[in-house]
Amino acid sequence: MEPRKIIETINLEKVYGNGENEVKAVDSISITIHEGEFVAIMGPSGSGKSTLMNILACLDRPTGGSYILNGMDVSNLSRTELARVRGKELGFVFQSFNLLPRMSAIENVMLPLMYRPDRPTTIPQRKELAMQVLQSVGLAERAHHLPSELSGGQQQRVAIARVLINEPILILADEPTGNLDTRSSEEIMGILHDLHGRGRTIVMVTHEPDVAAHTERILHIRDGKLHSDEKNGHLNPNKIKQTINSEPQKV
Ligand SMILES: Nc1ncnc2c1ncn2[C@@H]1O[C@H](COP(=O)(O)OP(=O)(O)OP(=O)(O)O)[C@@H](O)[C@H]1O
Ligand SMILES: [Mg+2]
Repeated sequence: MEPRKIIETINLEKVYGNGENEVKAVDSISITIHEGEFVAIMGPSGSGKSTLMNILACLDRPTGGSYILNGMDVSNLSRTELARVRGKELGFVFQSFNLLPRMSAIENVMLPLMYRPDRPTTIPQRKELAMQVLQSVGLAERAHHLPSELSGGQQQRVAIARVLINEPILILADEPTGNLDTRSSEEIMGILHDLHGRGRTIVMVTHEPDVAAHTERILHIRDGKLHSDEKNGHLNPNKIKQTINSEPQKV
């Protein structure tokens, strides 16, 4: 039996501006991503990666085509409805961590539960759950520190814990290692790898071939279009570099 489709886009399109100023930032992209896949999105600057991610993240709506998230057509939902889907089903990891600076690590991790009346509601229950999740990313001892007292890699681990506490059906990461040194990057990729191993569905934008090589499938975007879709358990980073450096294909 085929695994569940988490993401399905059909001729997805996002057009900015009009007339002479029209930019097709996403140009008829059709992709299917199944439960448990770990996918990287790559492509040159301005190719439409963030625009695509924002639509997948229900932060923005397409101007054409459809987006079916976990079986539900979300292409035409209102902003309020999109926000609800986001809070319940999705988790985001950003390049800049986006932690609340005045809250400790554990308070940051507990935050999403405030918007989930269906989840543990007492403070002690939330604390216990947040502690378990922090433990799973190796940060239990730093639970009561402020973000400013943590390294970049540790902050990103808190951000991942905050995603995990919500048990999202889909984790979206836009350059999650973009602000990290090599060692911290490897740590974060190790965690994402591990989450993938435990069945999580992850879609990640990255510029770095060695980061993309951690995934099992790479989508290359060029000029808003899907340029290639490589599925490969044994990616060769050199091959990826060549693909990136070659001239955009005119279709
Ligand atoms: N709000 C907007 N209004 C008008 N044009 C936009 C807007 N956002 C993005 N664009 C244009 O859409 C195209 C795709 O931009 P996008 O940010 O998705 O690229 P990207 O692949 O994420 O690039 P980078 O790697 O630099 O982050 C670009 O030509 C950009 O100028
Ligand atoms: Mg971008």
